[in-house]
Amino acid sequence: MLCLERMSRLGITLCGIPLKNPVLAASGTYGYGIEFESVADLNSLGGIVVKGLSREPIRGNPPPRLWQTEGGMLNSVGLQNIGARAFVAEKLPALRRFDTAVFVNVFGYAQEDYAEVIRILDDAEGIAGYELNVSCPNTKCGGIYFSSDPALLSDLVKQVRPLSKRPLIVKLSPNVTRIEPLALAAQEAGADAISLVNTFVSLAIDAHSRAPRLGAGFGGLSGPAIKPIALRLVYDAAKAVRIPVIGLGGIRSGVDAAEFLVAGASAVQVGTANFWDPSSPVRIARELDDFMRKEKLKNVKELVGTLKL
Ligand SMILES: Cc1cc2nc3c(=O)[nH]c(=O)nc-3n(C[C@H](O)[C@H](O)[C@H](O)COP(=O)(O)O)c2cc1C
Repeated sequence: MLCLERMSRLGITLCGIPLKNPVLAASGTYGYGIEFESVADLNSLGGIVVKGLSREPIRGNPPPRLWQTEGGMLNSVGLQNIGARAFVAEKLPALRRFDTAVFVNVFGYAQEDYAEVIRILDDAEGIAGYELNVSCPNTKCGGIYFSSDPALLSDLVKQVRPLSKRPLIVKLSPNVTRIEPLALAAQEAGADAISLVNTFVSLAIDAHSRAPRLGAGFGGLSGPAIKPIALRLVYDAAKAVRIPVIGLGGIRSGVDAAEFLVAGASAVQVGTANFWDPSSPVRIARELDDFMRKEKLKNVKELVGTLKL
């Protein structure tokens, strides 16, 4: 009975995909999902967004790749991955055995790269949808980031959208002056949802050696330190678009997740918290349910976009 109550409180439909709860594991922090089988109950996750896949394997950046900061973490993994074909052949068969929604994060350095990855993945069974990581430089356009130019973003989404019937989520970068034009560009080009935020471009320095702390120099900041900025960006984006918004950035508790829903997100993702507690998305869903029960709410939808501002 308790279980059924929880299911009805937490259950949502995201872009036509039924999810047990609105808490997903964020890309790049949960590997290909199956590595976490022994440390988390994957069947209890709202969903898994697997690490970013490219058309060819990528070895990633030189070490060190992680640096812990006050309330957060810098990473420069460099999008290391085994490539879309190897994912389909070696990881997906094991991953699709689990009763959770699998979203695949896709990236590239030109429109054709994204298109090719989607073509490879779209023949495979067991994928609920795609999340486009657009925080990459377009090497054919002088290195301008897809995520920082509405026209470039729009062209990319328009090219990719017709290649699949599966839901397409566009993951926005926080490294912009205003998020609204980018959120709107994604929506008008055919995105089914947007997710935000990706990491903040950052720099950690060792004053003694005068060298960056990370092998690649710059890194991306994530974790609790970014939560207030992420909340503001989610609020701004959600006000600008009609499509669902998936919020993330520093979530580590059920109340944090509730804050993102209040800001306008329909679902959330959990990233850096997985580094200290790999079962945190499951725990956070349970805590969100406790919060809702105490607030006498019947479904998470009642929280979405309810900020009194
Ligand atoms: C080690 C690491 C690797 C990541 N890799 C990806 C990736 O492959 N694709 C992507 O879209 N985001 C990636 N991200 C960004 C996260 O999915 C998330 O957007 C960000 O960390 C903010 O959420 P958090 O504060 O909960 O971690 C990565 C983050 C970390 C920490």
